[in-house]
Amino acid sequence: MADDDRTVWKRAAAESAAASVPDGVVVGLGSGSTAELMLAALAERVRGGLRITGVATSARTAALANDLGIPLLAIDDLQGTLDMSLDGADEVVLPTLDLVKGRGGALLHEKQVALVSRFRVIMIDESKLVQALGTTVAVPVEVVAFGWRQTALRLTTLGCQPTLRRQDSVSNLPFVTESGAYILDCAFGAITQPAALASQIKAITGVVDHGLFVGMTERVYVGGANGVATYDVAPVGAQAPVQPTHE
Ligand code: A5P
Repeated sequence: MADDDRTVWKRAAAESAAASVPDGVVVGLGSGSTAELMLAALAERVRGGLRITGVATSARTAALANDLGIPLLAIDDLQGTLDMSLDGADEVVLPTLDLVKGRGGALLHEKQVALVSRFRVIMIDESKLVQALGTTVAVPVEVVAFGWRQTALRLTTLGCQPTLRRQDSVSNLPFVTESGAYILDCAFGAITQPAALASQIKAITGVVDHGLFVGMTERVYVGGANGVATYDVAPVGAQAPVQPTHE
């Protein structure tokens, strides 16, 4: 699969998500390359008269939304909840629509926005659909800078190999999140019990949050060679896997 294909597929998923936004809503705006493609498509609709207010998940998304003319609200000025949110992901598993997020480093603010959103939409290209979370990416875990090595040691007891994320290979400085924390990329391999693991990671002292988003997605748009497939989460108790609809 060429990189160009992936960009085309991401854009297709992003455009489907942007097209699904109704007039008058308050919408969470995700971070990452797919979210940025969505912002461009959403801005085009705003120029055409769509009235929305966005809540950004990162400074970069806020700056881009400002440049594109998408009105913004700070999360702490939000009255009640968001109508919906649109974001990317690094891995998605069916039929639960559980995710790994955070390769861009914005996982904490993305999770805070998702938690106050009533309808959470994820946009991916089909290479991100996996049989089990953790198979293609490490799980990013945001940790306080103080004592990060001890926090990393505690994380190894859960069966992972943590690696401190760096800004780049030249300076070797730690990557610092917008909350001033570090990120440990924790390679677990295939995760069979994501909800249990999410609780175990969260319970470790020094951990701020992590990139496992379990039970936090209502819809996924998947761009691929055959167009865009839409997966809606199965109702609680349903046995059958979700069936995609194609555009
Ligand atoms: C940002 O912190 C991430 O959660 C992104 O949403 C995720 O990494 C997907 O990024 P891309 O859309 O750039 O692949």
